[in-house]
Amino acid sequence: VVGMCMRRQIARAVCLELSKGKTLSHDRMRNPCMGRLTSCLVKNLEKGKLVMRSESFSSRHVLQALPKLPVPNLKDTLDRYLRCMKHLLTEEQFNKTQNIVMQFGAPGGVGELLQSKLTERSENVANWVYDYWLNDMYLNNRLALPVNSSPAMVFPQQNFMAPIDSLRFAAHLISGALEYKTHLDDRDLPVDYARGQLAGTRLCMEQYYRLFTSYRLPGPERDTLVAQESSVMPEPEHIIVACKNQFFVLDVMINFRQLNQRDLLTQLEKIVKMADNEEEQLPPIGLLTSDGRTEWAESRSVLMRESTNRDSLDMIERCLCLVCLDDASGPELSDTKRAMLMLHGGGLTKNGGNRWYDKPMQFIVGADGCCGVVCEHSAFEGIVLVQCTEYLLKCMIGSPSKLVRAASVSELPAPRRLRWKCTPEIHKLITSAADKLQRMVKNLDINVHKFHDYGKGFIKKQKMSPDAYIQLALQLGFYRCHGRPVSTYESASLRRFQQGRVDNIRSATPEAFAFVKAMTERKNSTKMMELLKGAITAQTSYTRLAITGMAIDNHLLGLREIAHEMKMGKLEMFKDEAYLISNQFILSTSQVPTTVEMFCCYGPVVPNGYGACYNPQSDHIIFSVSSFHESEQTCSAEFVKCLVQGLRDVRDLCNKCNADCAATEERKGQTQKPKKEVYLLLTNRS
Ligand code: COA
Repeated sequence: VVGMCMRRQIARAVCLELSKGKTLSHDRMRNPCMGRLTSCLVKNLEKGKLVMRSESFSSRHVLQALPKLPVPNLKDTLDRYLRCMKHLLTEEQFNKTQNIVMQFGAPGGVGELLQSKLTERSENVANWVYDYWLNDMYLNNRLALPVNSSPAMVFPQQNFMAPIDSLRFAAHLISGALEYKTHLDDRDLPVDYARGQLAGTRLCMEQYYRLFTSYRLPGPERDTLVAQESSVMPEPEHIIVACKNQFFVLDVMINFRQLNQRDLLTQLEKIVKMADNEEEQLPPIGLLTSDGRTEWAESRSVLMRESTNRDSLDMIERCLCLVCLDDASGPELSDTKRAMLMLHGGGLTKNGGNRWYDKPMQFIVGADGCCGVVCEHSAFEGIVLVQCTEYLLKCMIGSPSKLVRAASVSELPAPRRLRWKCTPEIHKLITSAADKLQRMVKNLDINVHKFHDYGKGFIKKQKMSPDAYIQLALQLGFYRCHGRPVSTYESASLRRFQQGRVDNIRSATPEAFAFVKAMTERKNSTKMMELLKGAITAQTSYTRLAITGMAIDNHLLGLREIAHEMKMGKLEMFKDEAYLISNQFILSTSQVPTTVEMFCCYGPVVPNGYGACYNPQSDHIIFSVSSFHESEQTCSAEFVKCLVQGLRDVRDLCNKCNADCAATEERKGQTQKPKKEVYLLLTNRS
């Protein structure tokens, strides 16, 4: 009677308990019908008949094998900080900052005290910056999740000929997600290894295990990233399907059997029918999750007063993921339009209410073929999301396109609609959230551009790091658009370390500034090439520093937070205007490469800034640039124009210098040639 999946779940629960050094007895297994099987498993495990594969604990082993994130040297960080900021400040600002930094770092001063506390902390926890970083980057941020925080992956446009095609797509997607989840549960996901700079190092896999098990709970001052702990007897799993702003519980395990693609299609069809029933329509409660975090925390506590709402919230918070079956959004579905729709759903009039932003993964399947995934970012980085999504899309390529619904329709209980009791107060809160989302929809200025002139193949041929090169092009594009350099963020993975997330590559280096100025002033090509090479070297060295845990942002954050914990008040060092400027990332960039046709996009992190995500391929580069219409300083289309021109100019510079080099070589060759001829003549005569 017991299906493979349930057996696997029990085995997992048993292994988990045994790995914690606990002894198991029958009565700890709450489900009586499983008792015999469980005891049999335990006995076999004890007798050693059943071998626990080492992969069962691979993440634990990997965690132990990986080094801890180092604490950089204080003086190095302070020197680098001044170097990073000098050209971004006025002379007066810089002189003030230099004094503050000197005092902070003086022998026997505050800096050394904080450094010693930070070193102590690093000895006692797996990753000294993890909590500080998570709070600072995400959980303390009060801004609404759509656009401001949650990135999206946009899938290739799907060509659905009939409504059932989109449901087939969704069924394949869910089935792939369940398969992927099984790999995670069995801990048999292949371990990632670093590519590119310092390739070959093993990477921390922890973020993967949060894909289906975490939830970002809103709080009045700070959110909480809740991780579902595996219970001894895990409950049957479910996903939430959103359709026409209604939420449905789709059990993926029925009668101890995991639903297959045909079953899933059957259940999705039932959901669509139920959602169409206008008499049963409930308010678009999901809009509340698109509100500011403090506002959503308040609305949630109002919702929680009713037991019906508590039950519904509980089902959403414990689901594996969401699948949002979206209505068609309009005729023209360019890359830019699809990116927009992924980021905010198009507001209440489109699919903005068909979302639940707290859940890490929301797969969007639009009736018009606009598909992708929106992710709550606090649990994992885009790279992990890409790996998972690529797995699903690759699974789907091999799936039958003519999936038919299951014959045994009647045997499957219908999915359940989640109920909400909405007081007038809640209706008002929904209206307010809808208005704010609508403002966001109007405000987002996004431009997705596929740059087809060349890709990383050309850059590699120049013997330059493609990432460093693209960062320089972004600096050049920005400088040409705005005539000044600004604090720039580029995410650098720290997954070489235990619990590693990211640090910042400060791409606006002094060398980059010198290069972009020379390019704009059209200096001679030899000089510009020399500056380009210097800027590439500086960017590549910073990248290496960052991925080996030696960058400055996390370190300064650690020192600031330790001072806060020690109740030292706000130190001059962190009150200083330069520190504030250093953290205003007007240019927020990230490389998110894919091996399947899709791209990532996200919003700016400051009101007058740009979000710039890029996906370098061998012969083209996809850029997704965002900003806000409300800022008079920014314009995504203009920035893309300058960026494209910058990329062309740098290529032309490389080509010109290569041609000049080749010509010089040829000239050298020619001046040597006559000698050869003379020699030949001489030898012939002799
Ligand atoms: N000459 C020729 N080839 C070079 C080169 C050179 N001088 N320098 C690098 N290359 C090659 C690399 O070997 C690599 O080859 P591959 O395509 O065969 O793997 C390729 O160019 C890319 O290397 P590079 O451009 O230097 O970048 P990278 O892949 O090392 O990436 C970061 C740099 C910072 C983006 C990466 O380390 C990182 O941290 N990524 C994570 C970013 C992230 O977290 N994003 C999501 C945030 S939500």
